[in-house]
Amino acid sequence: MSVEVSDYATLKVRPEASGFGAEVTGLDLRKPLADPVLAEVKAAWAAHGVLSFPDQPLSLDELEAFTLQIGRFGDDPYVAPMPGRPNVLEVRREPDEKLTPFGGNWHSDWSFQPQPPAATILRSEIIPPVGGDTLYCDATRAYEALDEAAKARLAPLKAVHSATRAYGPKSQYSRELDQRSMPIIVSPEADKTHAHPLVRTHPVTGRKALFVSPVYTVGIEGMTPDQGDPLLGELFKHLTQDTFIYRHVWSAGMVVIWDNRCTMHNALGGYDGHRRVMHRTTVAGETPV
Ligand code: OGA
Ligand code: MN
Repeated sequence: MSVEVSDYATLKVRPEASGFGAEVTGLDLRKPLADPVLAEVKAAWAAHGVLSFPDQPLSLDELEAFTLQIGRFGDDPYVAPMPGRPNVLEVRREPDEKLTPFGGNWHSDWSFQPQPPAATILRSEIIPPVGGDTLYCDATRAYEALDEAAKARLAPLKAVHSATRAYGPKSQYSRELDQRSMPIIVSPEADKTHAHPLVRTHPVTGRKALFVSPVYTVGIEGMTPDQGDPLLGELFKHLTQDTFIYRHVWSAGMVVIWDNRCTMHNALGGYDGHRRVMHRTTVAGETPV
């Protein structure tokens, strides 16, 4: 895979060897970006899906300001925001926590919303000495790798998304609230469902991607569970093959932005006994088509 530095005017964009994702250096995210630089960041984001910016220890004000340069804030349900920061969530796991990390299964953020977030931005604060990597899956290449018969079969389908498994009254999190340091909100609202095209077209690149995930996709419209579940199972297996995955290793003071419209992610554990703290914003998206 190519690892050369791209020819951007001001930025250095180093594509990850995994085939998607890129590291970006040569700019200071604490300051407002000049229009041409912002345009390059957006172009690199569209090209690579996940961008990491090492050595960018943004304050919360700076994180909010950077987010607003990408787009307006999205709505974050089911996790209480930080005090006085309605648009910032703290993703925290304490040394004595034993449960799977928040976000510790494949998902695209808030995909059950009518207009799910385009981007999530995570800025690392405290990174454990071992573990705590985040896996990203390239749902665009996963779609493109399907044969024509599979693409034709999937084209008319709508997938049903819901927060029920994560945040509903019978969810896993609902039984664990007292064992987690994060202020997770369980609600009957989470049992609602919303259908989206199973294959969605990226509004910027025009490329198609699979838009389903094991956490939030609960079925396929017009199919019984006997019909829909095996198909979803096949798609999840296809998506999470090594060839479509980028494993992100964090350092403290790093900013990562990912595109929820064409990727899934999965927060790994492996750091029991250590603290991990991240700050997170979302950027509003559009109705999937
Ligand atoms: C999230 C999430 C991943 C991580 O914040 O949406 O899934 O590695 N986080 O913390
Ligand atoms: Mn997530």
